[in-house]
Parts: sequence; structure tokens; C-alpha cells
Amino acid sequence: MNYDKRKTIIAGNWKMNKLPSETYDYIKEVAAKVEGAKCEVVACVPFVNLANAIEAAKGTNVKIGAENLHFMPSGAFTGEVSAAMLKDIGVEYVIIGHSERRQYFAETDITVNKKVIAALEAGLKPIVCVGELLDEREQGITAEIVSIQTKIAFMGVDKSAFKNIVIAYEPVWAIGTGKTATSDQAEEVCKIIRDVLCDLYDEETAEGTTIQYGGSMNAGNAKELLGKYDVDGGLIGGASLKSEDFATIVKAAE
Ligand code: PGA
Repeated sequence: MNYDKRKTIIAGNWKMNKLPSETYDYIKEVAAKVEGAKCEVVACVPFVNLANAIEAAKGTNVKIGAENLHFMPSGAFTGEVSAAMLKDIGVEYVIIGHSERRQYFAETDITVNKKVIAALEAGLKPIVCVGELLDEREQGITAEIVSIQTKIAFMGVDKSAFKNIVIAYEPVWAIGTGKTATSDQAEEVCKIIRDVLCDLYDEETAEGTTIQYGGSMNAGNAKELLGKYDVDGGLIGGASLKSEDFATIVKAAE
């Protein structure tokens, strides 16, 4: 973390968990525990939970995000939700290109790029996920994979947009598996991503961008991971579903 150069952001990713009817009370519970936090606190929740989450977050320091969007502004896309719809109800952040979306819903680097552009155009802050598969790590191509994902995600994106962009490095083998990357592994890849931003844009943009780590981050290992210079926060799945654990991670970011 480097509080002087960029924001530290702890974001929960609820995935397909918690009912809309549970959301208001749970957000209130989290908000009470993270009041006054020095870092930014975000909860990314399912589409149908968003309205209740936004209502509960009013007047608190918790920001609300969605977990996905469609890249087209409107039209015949049955079942999809646009960036403008999210913005219209008061959503601030949106996760884009999570590995589960890439794996189960056929998202590609190109659709990720389209979604990033759609989110930015609507005034949403994208949390763009990149990360290698276990096979790719074992093959020694983590740097190449993560670099190409980053380069494609930001095609056509101006450096001025980066004040509203968050990147999450999530090694796929560490997501929901209880297998966390070591803090050195997390640091190494977050630094690679920052170097890519430096090549694509400039040092100021690279140093100013929040790069989170995600993948089995929890109350026990957060402090060590967040202690690394290039790790500016976390994208938290499982541990965001328990307010006590999530609040401990937020405290670890201070
Ligand atoms: P996890 O999920 O913390 O449950 O591993 C992280 C994520 O998928 O964003």
C-alpha cells in the first residue's frame, strides 16, 4: 500500500450470495464496523440486491458496486443490465472480467475491454480483474498472461480515466480455494501490472492506480498481503460475507 500515491480499496464481492431481503441489515452491520476507516470500503452485490444495498449505505462510508454489466447501452439483450441502468440507481463501482465470468460466461479480453469502456462512459468505476490459471503459472507464463489481459482491457482508454479505474490481480488458482498467493507472489504480479501501465501510459498513471489482490484473502492473511508496496487493497469473496472478517480486513488496510 502507499496511501500517499493512491487509494487503498477493500471491496467485497458477494458473488451469488445473500438475499435482497438480507442485504439492508447486512450493509448496516458492515457500515457500523468500518465507520471512520481510512481506506475506501466497497460492497459489490448481485443486481437484485443493489437497491437495498444503496439505501442502507446512504450516510455511511460504504460504497456500492455491481458484479457485472453489459457493454451495449440498451437494446435487445434479454436478461442483461447496462452501465446506464446501474448509474441511474446510484451504483458507483462495477467488477469487470472476474475469472468466474471468463470461465462460465464466455467473457474474453475483448468483451472486458468493451465493458470497461461502457462503464467509464456511464461514469462508473470499473474494478478490472486479471489473473493467471494454475496451468499458466506452472508453465511460467504468468507475466505474459497478466500483461496481455491488462493491455487488452485498456485498449482505447485514455490515461485521464485511470483516476476512476481499479485493477484486481486475482490468480485463478487462489479464488475460493483457500490457497492464497504468498505476499511475495502477489507483490510480484501487482508490480508487473504497474509496469505495464507505465509502458502504456506513464509513471504517474502507474503509480496512481489502485491495484488490489484477490484470492482467498481473509482476516488472517490480509495484513501481510496489504503490507506490500504494490498491493493497494483487496477484492474479497468468501470473507466479505461475514461482517467481522470483512471489518478485520478493512482494519488491516490501515
Ligand atoms: P475469494 O474470492 O476471496 O472467495 O477467494 C475472491 C474473488 O473471487 O474476488
